[in-house]
Amino acid sequence: MTMHSRCVIRGSINIDEFFHVKKIVRPGETISSLELSRQAGGKGANQAVALAKAGAYVVSLVGSVGEDGRWVVEYLKDSGVDVADIQIIPEPTGRAVIQLTDDGENSIILFKGANYASHPKKSISSGVTHVLLQNEIPIEDTLTYLNAQADASAFPITIFNPSPMLSDTEIELFAWNKLSWLIVNEGEAFDLYKSLSGDTPDIPIPDSNGSPFVNIPAYSTLFRLSSCIPKTNIVCTLGAAGVLALVPSLQETADASTALNSDPIFLPVAKLQNGVIDTTGAGDCFTGYLVAGLMKIHDEGVKTLRREDVISVLKRCVQAAGMCVEKRGAMESIPLAREVDAMMH
Ligand code: ADP
Ligand code: NA
Repeated sequence: MTMHSRCVIRGSINIDEFFHVKKIVRPGETISSLELSRQAGGKGANQAVALAKAGAYVVSLVGSVGEDGRWVVEYLKDSGVDVADIQIIPEPTGRAVIQLTDDGENSIILFKGANYASHPKKSISSGVTHVLLQNEIPIEDTLTYLNAQADASAFPITIFNPSPMLSDTEIELFAWNKLSWLIVNEGEAFDLYKSLSGDTPDIPIPDSNGSPFVNIPAYSTLFRLSSCIPKTNIVCTLGAAGVLALVPSLQETADASTALNSDPIFLPVAKLQNGVIDTTGAGDCFTGYLVAGLMKIHDEGVKTLRREDVISVLKRCVQAAGMCVEKRGAMESIPLAREVDAMMH
């Protein structure tokens, strides 16, 4: 029998407006834009599309847009996202106004709009196996979904990408014990550790004699962060340096000669075909492929994660994110599962 994992995302939906300018406008100055392009965006929507493209079977996005965002909902639906729980309300859709120069400089104004409106769906449907959250919606809703039970007995696997970072108070009140997977970049890992550890002195890291990781600055941050939230699996993306993961929920290996659970997993970035064009959306692409990979493992009936399962999921993530940075744009640059697989064979 084939099981099918179901993922719900409670997240943001934006219209991204790109103004192509010679240089970023200064105070008091008026400039003309050479070109205007409009794209669907927002971290919730980006990650939903990434999951659908990565081959996840059911991906449902819960969120809000205004009348001006109907075309975004259509786009998400065409991309394979279940949009039944996207409500259309009398408020403008969330917006990012982005000035973009030829040499890649940008400046962004964010308007939260409909993303911060109250949403009637406060619980998850039965059968939901995975819950994916970011932080571009009211924190109360993020916490509601983090604590949600799919059935009387079943808690889903929860994945959180705190982008933008929570405030110190929110970090203190956050239900970390409910979080299965945390996905952060290096800056977020550091900020989170600093806030969680408060005034405690630096926690010693395991003896790193001969470790291939000692030259990665995020190595010690990751260990320290993990000691603050010891049950949560942490995946830290390192931009052009790849990814480092600490996965405490791995199955214990009986063979002492193999890697310990406390050993991090490191993978370098994928070998690029054309070089970096635009890193926008790479993190969201990575997150989508990670959750799709976790869903696939779940579908195969694996109860306790094995190290090799996690490595193979992460390999696909770095390949997909690598292909994403080779193309302009966010959502449109996320590759399809078959394109990623073709590059890996
Ligand atoms: P974020 O955009 O969320 O800060 P990162 O910059 O860490 O995330 O990038 C996410 C992932 O995208 C990285 O782990 C890597 O796999 C891929 N990536 C990012 N930048 C590059 C790059 N210059 N070359 C190849 N892959 C990249
Ligand atoms: Na891109």
